[in-house]
Amino acid sequence: MILTLEHIPESLKRIVVRADLNVPMQDATVRDATRIVSVLPTLRELLDHGKTVYLISHLGRPKGTWDLRFSLAPVAEVLKTLLPTYSVIFDPRDVTQVAASALKTHPEGSLILLENVRFYPGEETNCMDFGQKLAEVGQAYVNDAFASCHRAHTSTCALARLLPSFAGRLLQRELEALETTVENTARPTCAVVGGSKVSTKIDLLKNLMNKVDHLCIGGAMANTFLFALGKPVGRSLYEPDLAPLAREIISMAANRGCTIHLPVDAVVAGALEAGVEVSTVSCNDVEPEDLILDVGPLTCQAWDSVFDFCKTVIWNGPVGAFEVTPFAGGSLFVARTLAQRTRQGQLTTIAGGGDTLSVLNVAGVMGDLTFVSTAGGAFLEWLEGKPLPGLQALKHHHLDMAHA
Ligand code: 3PG
Repeated sequence: MILTLEHIPESLKRIVVRADLNVPMQDATVRDATRIVSVLPTLRELLDHGKTVYLISHLGRPKGTWDLRFSLAPVAEVLKTLLPTYSVIFDPRDVTQVAASALKTHPEGSLILLENVRFYPGEETNCMDFGQKLAEVGQAYVNDAFASCHRAHTSTCALARLLPSFAGRLLQRELEALETTVENTARPTCAVVGGSKVSTKIDLLKNLMNKVDHLCIGGAMANTFLFALGKPVGRSLYEPDLAPLAREIISMAANRGCTIHLPVDAVVAGALEAGVEVSTVSCNDVEPEDLILDVGPLTCQAWDSVFDFCKTVIWNGPVGAFEVTPFAGGSLFVARTLAQRTRQGQLTTIAGGGDTLSVLNVAGVMGDLTFVSTAGGAFLEWLEGKPLPGLQALKHHHLDMAHA
């Protein structure tokens, strides 16, 4: 059983909250605040109950080094704007110093954002020593980072074993919504997978094709598949080493009755820049100097006819270089057509992933899908039925420790 916020004993005043504030950034400012906004209900509820909240998160992959390009300072600025009536403090000191001076430095009832947990070498090794340091900051632990629950890291696992542990409201809502939506999945099902985390997602694809009837692949991943099929990809981002795996996925999918839909045309340009000259070409005609930066209109049309006979569509990852205007068309098309078909009661739609949320926001259809998860990798691993270490750890809630 996972305990939630109402189970936190009155006597525990300092709460360490693990959120997933791994938000898209541009020039040291937050490009999309959806993940920050999503955790506000938990923060407000704790602060309104007079708790002092120590908020921890990772941002990017600084790999255990104090690399200020991945500082959470810009996130603190957004939090201050979103919570104007609360005391919001950014404390960039080492957690050991924070723990040693917590009581005298921070006014009771404040929200204190600490620096990126991935600045510490102990975070990604799920290390009890680092967990102990984090545990000394507070008296109870709340995990509101469903999006990080697939990582067996110190702030998602070890820490939950060192303090009385509880699930935050966002994590609770995500789990309830996923369970309800996925249990009622109507077939045929389709997954649309795109994005730039090519090597991590290609393994996920391998599992996903066991679950769905149709798989539409876009983004940089599609280039690897096209390359594997002998198509020209010019100077596009792709992973030549993964071509054998891509071919294996194509033949396994065929054996399992899952149809893979790759792009048939592409928006190409000489550079990934706004204002650059773009053209639309067949995937057979990509020139050596071209970069494939989005799916073309024929691909959108073909995918739309797949959505037309499907009952459920799961979406993760933009299907083009969405952040640069001329290459956002494919992703906006997917967002809008899924939203429209959901509104018409024709499709159940589930989407997840930081960049996918940005697309839905820009398309103005965030509220129109059946369920939108703030998670990326965790969302897909959950859909694959893999146990998520962060959720497993929460089951060892140690409420008994609270009464010790
Ligand atoms: C995500 O964005 O999916 C989560 O924040 C996890 O990030 P990671 O892939 O760097 O662990």
